[in-house]
Order: sequence, then C-alpha cells, then structure tokens
Amino acid sequence: MLQIQSISKSFDKKNIVLDQAGMVVQDYSKVAVIGKSGCGKTTLLNIIAGLLSPDDGEIIYKDFSLTSKSNSKERSDFRFNHVGIIPQRLCLINEYNVFQNIAYPLRLKGVKDNKFIIDKVKDIANRLNIAELLNKKTSLLSTGQCQRVALARAIITSPPILLADEPTSALDSETRAIVMSEFINYPGTVIIVSHDSHVISSCQEVFLIEDGRITKM
Ligand SMILES: Nc1ncnc2c1ncn2[C@@H]1O[C@H](COP(=O)(O)OP(=O)(O)OP(=O)(O)O)[C@@H](O)[C@H]1O
Ligand SMILES: [Mg+2]
Repeated sequence: MLQIQSISKSFDKKNIVLDQAGMVVQDYSKVAVIGKSGCGKTTLLNIIAGLLSPDDGEIIYKDFSLTSKSNSKERSDFRFNHVGIIPQRLCLINEYNVFQNIAYPLRLKGVKDNKFIIDKVKDIANRLNIAELLNKKTSLLSTGQCQRVALARAIITSPPILLADEPTSALDSETRAIVMSEFINYPGTVIIVSHDSHVISSCQEVFLIEDGRITKM
C-alpha cells in the first residue's frame, strides 16, 4: 500500500499547490489522477518519486517513509529501489540512441549481462512498436515515439510503483491502446496523470486534485 498523508507543498507563500492532500493506493492497483492544468498533478508525482521534497506530510510505502526531513540521498534511494517514472517532459538522453535510453536503468542497477539487456530491451520495444527505432537518436523521434521510449525505460527494471505523467498525450488511438494494455497488465502499482477519458475509464480508481486537496471520485 502506498500512503500519501497530509502532503503540503508551496513554491512561494502565494502559490500553495498541495494543502494537506492525501490518498491511499493499494498494491497493484491502477489509478488515474486528474485535475485542471496547474492544479499540482506533476508536483504530486514528483513528490512521490522523491524528486521534490514536501513542505509537510509523509509518503509511506512498506517500511520506507519520505518526509520534509528526508535528505536527497534518502529520496533518491527510494526512487532507485521502488519507482519508475515517465515524466511529462520525458527527459530522454538525446546523445543516446533509443536502445541506450531504454537500457540505461539496467546499467545503473549494475546489470552486466549484455545478452540479458539486449533481449529485455528488444522484448519491450517489440511490445511497444518501437523495435525499428532502437538505433536512432531520440532527438530524431516524434513525441509519441519518445513517449513509448520513456515508458520502456520506466518499466525495464520492473519497479513496484510506476508513475506516468500524461503518457498518452501524443498517441493515436491504436498506439494508446497498446500503451494502456502495458499499464493495465503491469505487475505493480500504476499512477497515471491524464486528461484522456479512455485512459481514465481504464483505471480502477480516479483521484481529483482541486484547491490543493485530493478527493476520490
Ligand atoms: N519548480 C517550480 N517552481 C515554482 N513553481 C512551480 C514549480 N513547479 C510547479 N510550479 C507551480 O506549481 C503549480 C502546479 O504545477 P504542476 O506542474 O504540478 O501542475 P499540473 O497539474 O501538472 O499542470 P499541467 O496539467 O499543466 O501539467 C503551478 O502553478 C506551477 O506554476
Ligand atoms: Mg503536469
């Protein structure tokens, strides 16, 4: 179970983005987070991922806890061990080709077995219809292709918590169905920020962020 308890975050005194916001996500469930542009969806995912520190409140997952007092090493350890993220701005490494981008988290984890890495990357790339792009630099790809590379990179180490920030915003309906099937069948907890009604209706639970609070729909 992932517990988000009374999280507050403001970027300056006038802009209180999250105000004692909370939600509980059961293991293996697939949930959507919705809300108007600027309401704090990306901020929430960044806090869960340990990329941002909350001003107050706590993120609890198994025996881990992240609070405003957690230092950057504790936050990055949590991310390294538990979280895969598909950021809204994707954050691919443009100097790398698609294969190297997807394989990167395995290299970070110290996996040395090249055959294992090649097989794993090819398997995921085939499922996401990007196998023919593996040798291309990511700077040459379309946004929808980059979204699938970012998804492949996020799932290659099978993290127990997968966070996806508008992961289908650039996809046609056929490709969106392929990507959604990856999320729905993912063997872990998935939190998807989306404005897409097809994505939202595929999720088991929907949470709305409004006026700094999170409510279950
Ligand atoms: N690093 C930052 N510094 C200052 N303000 C920030 C920062 N990041 C986000 N904000 C502010 O926090 C608010 C919430 O931003 P956030 O990116 O979480 O919104 P969002 O719900 O993801 O919006 P969108 O749907 O447009 O992606 C906005 O008012 C934004 O300007
Ligand atoms: Mg956002």
